[in-house]
Amino acid sequence: MKILDGNKTVTLDYEQLGNLPVVSEQGEKNVLNLLRNGEISTSPSVPKFERRFADYVGSKYALSYCNGTSALEAAVFACGAGPGTEVIVPSFTFWSTVMVAVANQATPVFADIDPDTWTMTAETIEPHITEKTKAIIVVHVWGTPCDMDPIMALARKYNIKVIEDASHAHGATYKGRSVGSIGDIGCFSFQGSKLVPGGEAGILVSDNLMLYSRAAAAGHYERLAGLGPDNPYSRYSLTGFGHKFRANPLAIALADAAMDTLDERNEIRDRQARVLEAGIADLDFLIPQAVPADSRRVYAYHYMLYDPAKFGGVNPSTLLLALAEEGVKCGGCGYGRLHQAPAILEGGGFGNLNPHDTPVSLPVSEDMGRRQIMVALRFEQECPELIEQYIAAYHKVAANMEKLQIYERENGIRSFDLSGRSISIISAGN
Ligand SMILES: Cc1ncc(COP(=O)(O)O)c(C=O)c1O
Repeated sequence: MKILDGNKTVTLDYEQLGNLPVVSEQGEKNVLNLLRNGEISTSPSVPKFERRFADYVGSKYALSYCNGTSALEAAVFACGAGPGTEVIVPSFTFWSTVMVAVANQATPVFADIDPDTWTMTAETIEPHITEKTKAIIVVHVWGTPCDMDPIMALARKYNIKVIEDASHAHGATYKGRSVGSIGDIGCFSFQGSKLVPGGEAGILVSDNLMLYSRAAAAGHYERLAGLGPDNPYSRYSLTGFGHKFRANPLAIALADAAMDTLDERNEIRDRQARVLEAGIADLDFLIPQAVPADSRRVYAYHYMLYDPAKFGGVNPSTLLLALAEEGVKCGGCGYGRLHQAPAILEGGGFGNLNPHDTPVSLPVSEDMGRRQIMVALRFEQECPELIEQYIAAYHKVAANMEKLQIYERENGIRSFDLSGRSISIISAGN
């Protein structure tokens, strides 16, 4: 049964509008070059890319990894977090941010987020600091920078390291500085859906040689000898510390090509997201993510907060279903549930850690996870007519609130399967 009249408002198909494959021609060339040279495991192009990326974000050092998760895991290790220590993390994130603490046998301690920026702040972090706290991992969620100055001041006061998880935020800036370069360590993912898609790869940046060296010891035995005889980590070059986290040069080659167009693509996405938000600004039940002063967000993912109280109490999933029926590519949000995950509540992982005998309550994170909706896919090319259709679809659904209420009364509330997923694209047919 249809919620509205069954006539789709969105008739244009983004995929067919343009020709923007994830892998550019330059990416293909880079990969082919490596294949022909047999550089499929190590390649001089990898350190070259690391230099390029370090320069882009304005950090002294960069080290590539086989994915963003391993970069974060090495970062936690580099900060000295291990058994008996604590790492403060958000729950409103992808699981990697949290589980890298578990993988280091440190205890993840969850902090809530700000209801406007949806990121952790100095205020939400401070109550969780103990003498065991070694590091704080902040996430620039969906591409919006955290308010870093107060977080850094807090961390300096307590002598705690800050790791920025910038997996969503390539190109975002805070007070003129690139995210990732502000904390002690920054980590970026180059997973295929990110702003710099490389397939599976990631990178860690830092200005601190000792943190960089320790991170290298966590997964790059092959780099340790090159640190020089005076570096305390060079003596581990025979073994490292038990992980092999080297990035595949083929993935780095794709990330390298994606960097060529990152700023341009960010600008296009930004412009189009703003047009969409301006077009639906009159719909007071959809609230945009707030961005800290003097910051530039990027639109890795375009989420808005839905307020059912301003839309007849309609459940978020009914709203998404109605939008999907209109042809809007939209989605739900599964963030904000990690503190309730079995691996956290029951332990059983490395070191059989059982950190949370008492479940933690994170009201803002839980609420945000239930009510945020992905309002559109990211548009990496200009598509004004399509955005007009999206705006019209949002207005059509808004004008038919009663039909959504009736549908809900007659059919119940449909729950989308978010199990194991942080993001689920809703289609009317599924
Ligand atoms: C916020 C966040 N942190 C970390 C990661 C981990 O990156 P990767 O998938 O490259 O391991 C991701 C992406 O998947 C992410 O969204």
